[in-house]
Amino acid sequence: MTVYSFIFYLTFAFQKFIIMYRTHTNGELRLNNVNEQVTLCGWVQKAREMGAMTFVDIRDRYGITQLVFDEEHTKIAKSLGREDVIQITGKVIERESKNKNIPTGEIEIIVEKFTLLNKSKTPPFTIEDKTDGGEELRMQYRYLDLRRNPIRKNLELRHKLSIEVRKYLDAIDFLEIETPYLIKSTPEGARDFVVPSRMNPGQFYALPQSPQTFKQLLMVSGYDRYYQIVRCFRDEDLRADRQPEFTQIDCEMAFVEQEDILNTFEGMMDYLFKKVKNIELKQFPRMSYADAMKNYGCDKPDIRFGMTFNYIDAITKNKGFNVFDSAETVIAIVAEDCASFTRKQLDALTDYVKRPQVGAKGLVYLRCNEDGTYKSSVDKFYNEPDLKTWAEKCNAKAGDLMLVLSGDLAATQKQMNDLRLHLANELGLRNPNEYAPLWVYDFPLLEWDEESGRYHAMHHPFTSPKTEDLHLLETDPGKVRANAYDLVLNGTEIGGGSIRIHDRAVQSRMFDLLGFTKEEAQAQFGFLLNAFEYGAPPHGGIALGFDRLCALFGGQETIRDFIAFPKNNNGRDVMIDAPATIDKKQLDELFIDVKEL
Ligand code: AMO
Repeated sequence: MTVYSFIFYLTFAFQKFIIMYRTHTNGELRLNNVNEQVTLCGWVQKAREMGAMTFVDIRDRYGITQLVFDEEHTKIAKSLGREDVIQITGKVIERESKNKNIPTGEIEIIVEKFTLLNKSKTPPFTIEDKTDGGEELRMQYRYLDLRRNPIRKNLELRHKLSIEVRKYLDAIDFLEIETPYLIKSTPEGARDFVVPSRMNPGQFYALPQSPQTFKQLLMVSGYDRYYQIVRCFRDEDLRADRQPEFTQIDCEMAFVEQEDILNTFEGMMDYLFKKVKNIELKQFPRMSYADAMKNYGCDKPDIRFGMTFNYIDAITKNKGFNVFDSAETVIAIVAEDCASFTRKQLDALTDYVKRPQVGAKGLVYLRCNEDGTYKSSVDKFYNEPDLKTWAEKCNAKAGDLMLVLSGDLAATQKQMNDLRLHLANELGLRNPNEYAPLWVYDFPLLEWDEESGRYHAMHHPFTSPKTEDLHLLETDPGKVRANAYDLVLNGTEIGGGSIRIHDRAVQSRMFDLLGFTKEEAQAQFGFLLNAFEYGAPPHGGIALGFDRLCALFGGQETIRDFIAFPKNNNGRDVMIDAPATIDKKQLDELFIDVKEL
């Protein structure tokens, strides 16, 4: 030990003995501590009187310990309110009536010395696992909400996941490199949050929607395995799995093909599931985008259950049922063992598909009765042998229920996807403790945007087209597939990435296709195009939504409670009341003239 490290050690050892607020945490004491003198600190969870004694539960983030205030001290205990911060010293004893539900349930502390460290107002909601506080109130007092076990466990899970992600990537030579937050906008599809520059009047930074261009530049610089657990900002409509600021596990690799990336991140998922949840992922299937759309009507199918699509146009058309005859497609799904659904249940499903958010005009059903007969809502047009062919075509057996939608292909696929997921929720087929990961690959390179009347990059403009589809770029750009892939888990898009364009000419051509003039492309992405002229290696990458990953590991779909201080659906932080107006002086300094709203 050097002199310096000895002094360093002494300083810490000294601090440990002098500043001894507590000897143990509230989750720590067990039977083997009986008879020890201990000092504990924490928040009052609850107090209850029993004869001359008062029992108080003291809580910190490690657990709960029961304190016993005897006759002499009971007056103090009675004065305690929920969430008061206290310090006690006392002796550990074995409990007479043990509580098997908590780890410290076999002991209690006879209080000998008590200090009130800070009084608390009565909290606006109970700090319990199941609180009486509504969402808005919990967000307003988030610092109290964070004291609750379920949220604490979520944040602990998040911490554990981030540690394991770093361990996995570090072990295979990835370097964590930070990229700037004050940048120029990157076109990821959402709106940018912008920040005015005082030193450059009238000019704005954008907060990154992702570090996309920077990580590609790092590849040009030779850092061939980069990652970053990084905050991203997108000004888009919010929902349960979307926050305006969220975190990505952002990665990029050079000298790789799609297969290398899929294997590396499949490995990461296997590792995380094993380390964090002790689950061996059995399968990691891959599905082309075309198959996902055909069989599930969406690009992020939940494959924990069946009910895949059957196209029954050929056997349902030309029987006099105009709805099917005039439809571009007729799609059926089979709900196993649901033939016994009541009229009311079927009406509820029909109401569901007719909701404006789903948009179907109606729902046709076919009951495959246990006795081998068939009953459909369109018996008028189809006889028993017809209905039998439907069932045979879809492998529906006696006892199953077939649900049928028809209309334009894309719209019907979307509606059937909604119905499939809704029904699976109703039937309890989406078990949050079952995990079904999936790669979806071969996404289209471009998608047509009716509003602007031009193509948009489906992933982003840096994604490379598949070599075998290059010839279609000029003739039928909408048909070109990309070297792009998504990581899907239980029907949620966890991550997305692609093999990038690394050739200046191809990248310029891509900007042309997306409707950029040469000048616009140079002005916005000149730095990247220029970098591609200095030895850009072939490269590709992926970004995983870290908040979504945490939520799924925690068995939930909403990411909000896996983020310490999230925003509400209007993008507001109701605790600090942001966004807010700023002083006239600040506005003037930034040369911003805010019109009265
Ligand atoms: P992408 O836009 O697909 O790819 O984003 C990657 C992942 O980030 C998560 N995500 C979000 N999570 C919470 N709130 C949001 N608003 C939000 N938006 C996205 C999703 C998504 O799969 N630069 C590319 C990656 C690449 O090509 O390497 C990118 O950002 O889980």
